[in-house]
Amino acid sequence: MEPKRHTITAALPYANGPLHLGHMAGVYMPADIYARYLRSKMEDVLFVCGSDEHGAAITLRAKKEGVSPQEIVDNYHDLNKKTFKDLGISFDIYHRTSSDLHKETAAEYFRKFDEASFFTKKTTEQYYDEGQNVFLADRYITGTCPKCGHDAAYGDQCESCGSTLSPLDLINPISTLSGDTPVLKTTSHWYLPMNKHEEWLKEWIQNGNIDGVQHHDPTEWKKQVIGQCMSWIDGGLTERAMTRDLDWGVKVPVLGGDGKVLYVWFDAPIGYISATKQWAQDNGRNWEDYWKKTDTKLVHFLAKDNIVFHCIIFPIILKQSGDHILPNNVPANEFLNLEGDKFSTSRNWAVWAHEYLQDFENQQDILRYVLISIAPESKDSEFTWKDFQARNNNELADIFGNFVNRVLVLTNKYFDGAVPARGELTSFDQEVLHELKGAPERIGQAIEKYRFRDGLSEAMNLARLGNKYLAETEPWKLIKTDQDRVQTIINIAVQIAGNLSIVFNPFLPFTTNRLAELLAIQHEDQHWARGGDDNLIQAGHRIKQGNPPVLFPKITDEQVEQQLGRLGEKSTDSTFEPVKDQVVFGDFEKMDIRVGEIVEAEKVKKSDKLLKLTVNTGLDVRTVVSGIAEFYDPKEVIGKKVSVLMNLAPRKIRGVDSQGMILMAENENGELNFVSPSQEFQIGGSVR
Ligand code: MF3
Ligand code: ZN
Repeated sequence: MEPKRHTITAALPYANGPLHLGHMAGVYMPADIYARYLRSKMEDVLFVCGSDEHGAAITLRAKKEGVSPQEIVDNYHDLNKKTFKDLGISFDIYHRTSSDLHKETAAEYFRKFDEASFFTKKTTEQYYDEGQNVFLADRYITGTCPKCGHDAAYGDQCESCGSTLSPLDLINPISTLSGDTPVLKTTSHWYLPMNKHEEWLKEWIQNGNIDGVQHHDPTEWKKQVIGQCMSWIDGGLTERAMTRDLDWGVKVPVLGGDGKVLYVWFDAPIGYISATKQWAQDNGRNWEDYWKKTDTKLVHFLAKDNIVFHCIIFPIILKQSGDHILPNNVPANEFLNLEGDKFSTSRNWAVWAHEYLQDFENQQDILRYVLISIAPESKDSEFTWKDFQARNNNELADIFGNFVNRVLVLTNKYFDGAVPARGELTSFDQEVLHELKGAPERIGQAIEKYRFRDGLSEAMNLARLGNKYLAETEPWKLIKTDQDRVQTIINIAVQIAGNLSIVFNPFLPFTTNRLAELLAIQHEDQHWARGGDDNLIQAGHRIKQGNPPVLFPKITDEQVEQQLGRLGEKSTDSTFEPVKDQVVFGDFEKMDIRVGEIVEAEKVKKSDKLLKLTVNTGLDVRTVVSGIAEFYDPKEVIGKKVSVLMNLAPRKIRGVDSQGMILMAENENGELNFVSPSQEFQIGGSVR
């Protein structure tokens, strides 16, 4: 069945920080291309997003900065909304979850589910920080992992061995809010019994059908998405609390809910629906058409860490609602890395989208082009500034820009801006026109299958074809001798340029609008349906006169250097590295730090960062794994006197038992240097 309308969602970013290129490449660019493409096909499209303004990440940030959560979300909601707009991400609405309409909507779903007894209510013991007067979210408790002994495991997961944990599993739990040991206190919550939904979820995810009704074609889903869902389901779904003891969020709207709010992953996806309601109100439309009609195609764009919420929890919510549709696809992406490393806010290892927009004014499409070219569609991928420069200079500028420039200049120069008529065609001309005709179909197919990289490279092939056509026919050599032939060549080149303004439109909207202006073509002629037409622009049509502007300025080496230099630099924004909480002398005294000497050193296999050091501490000779391989060669560290934290609980790092830790000083670029006695000093001496 052909869908009648499309509801497209992009994961609501937390309003607790700015957006970086990883977010854009993984979620918002693909979603935007999809939405723009369907609009260009004149489909009925609703593209929604907004700020996710609840959740522990926001209250934590507010606490650290000593401001209210509302101040944090107001600030980032505005910034992120503007960033999206400036980058051309064409949401029909950018809503927010702290709005009244959202709170009412989320509360209504909760109330209905409660009345229908979809939740189970349970009283359990949970960790509570008495000093701070709060129950602790899983992420705010650290302790020793019961499985591997790692001493900084989180309440929900150990990042060292990967085990899923519950806070009660941790040995020596500590509240990260205060550093104190939390106490257990009883509390009641509403749980979503996900286990009761296992059967239909499995059938729906694997085969696309529910009770014999086909909802989607499972072969169109990405393998990684189905894989991740099935491993969750096969691991056994459990009950998950849909409420939290917090004061920031949507208040639990039923009896017994005092002092509690909805779990952020219950309320946030409902944010798509409340955004739709707001948009419908503003535009005189009916929100239900977009969430309840079976001829609506719902697609969720997001990154892989959001898969379970959109493929398991939210579908349960939608199905329970009785009359809501389920997503037709969840084309989740992997992660984007940056210059050989993960994006990291705390290390400021990021390229912030709003900063890009400041540094590269009016060059949104270069970023759009590069991010889609490298989008992490099936595996993690990487952004580097060198590659950014190369893709712009060698592809956008030298191929697309060059071709368009030639077409415009030649039409103006030889024909005074009036598109000449075609005469007889050579077989090369015919081949070229044949290629042109097939292009929109090839590109559209790729976009509809969520293969945006392929779609973009097919579009680029059309620009390549145009460039090659002019390079091989060389009209500038014929103008004196064979005017007829030149007319045909320019006519064909103009058709290709016109078609570029169609097929690139979803990808590079700023450029294609400029191009349409230069060709003086109407908006209607940019509709997808006009694509492939080899008479898109009629003979006699006048294009814009004058020297055309440069569509894609070259990116210089200096620009690359400047951007590279900025990476990892500590921001002046005080929010990056919070000063730690006060400790008492007793806390410090617990640590046994001594001067040791490195006697052997080697690289840890398969790691760029780690060195395995053998250290003579005066008391013993022990192995310590240290993350300094980027800064020190194994050879040069032998003989160095260093400070060793002796009584750190042993940890296994990359399969090596590490006993203790070497103290390092870190500069603003993240470079590390040994903390050593300034003069020759005896080993074993204590550091106080
Ligand atoms: N704020 C979440 C994140 O950044 C995404 C929320 S998506 C929604 O990971 F569906 F819950 F809205
Ligand atoms: Zn562990």
